[in-house]
Amino acid sequence: MPRAAVLVALALSLGAVPALAQPDGKQLYDLQCSFCHADESQAPSLTGVAGRKIGSGSFAFSDAMKAKGEAGATWTDEELDAFLKEPAAHTPGTTMMMSVTDDANRAAIVAYLKTLK
Ligand code: HEC
Repeated sequence: MPRAAVLVALALSLGAVPALAQPDGKQLYDLQCSFCHADESQAPSLTGVAGRKIGSGSFAFSDAMKAKGEAGATWTDEELDAFLKEPAAHTPGTTMMMSVTDDANRAAIVAYLKTLK
């Protein structure tokens, strides 16, 4: 095969390889979330958070977060995604500062949160 054809074939086969490593939601959670969310001394428990009313439970939530839940909002995938992308924009006045700006990482974390039951 001529050299150029080999290079084209190589480029095509590399292009067909799916995105390298898929982000690992559990690993990201362990690195970025668990040091606050491990127990309720600093942050609410995230066990069962998917589908739960926002800001409900025994933790001393900010008024902003409690108000969201009192208005009827629950933690759907969309709410979790928006909150994790920019907590202060989703819930102005929240005391959680950690944001996850990378879309793929956020999706992996949300998928992992749904396994915490
Ligand atoms: C520096 C500590 C800290 C870190 C790190 C942190 N959080 Fe939080 N998180 C909080 C606090 C405090 C609250 C309560 C916020 C409020 O009441 O406004 C909270 C609230 C939440 C809630 C709402 C829970 C509920 O029951 O309504 C979710 C979901 C959440 N965090 C997810 C995450 C995820 C996912 C990560 C990792 C990417 C993370 N948090 C990292 C401190 C933290």
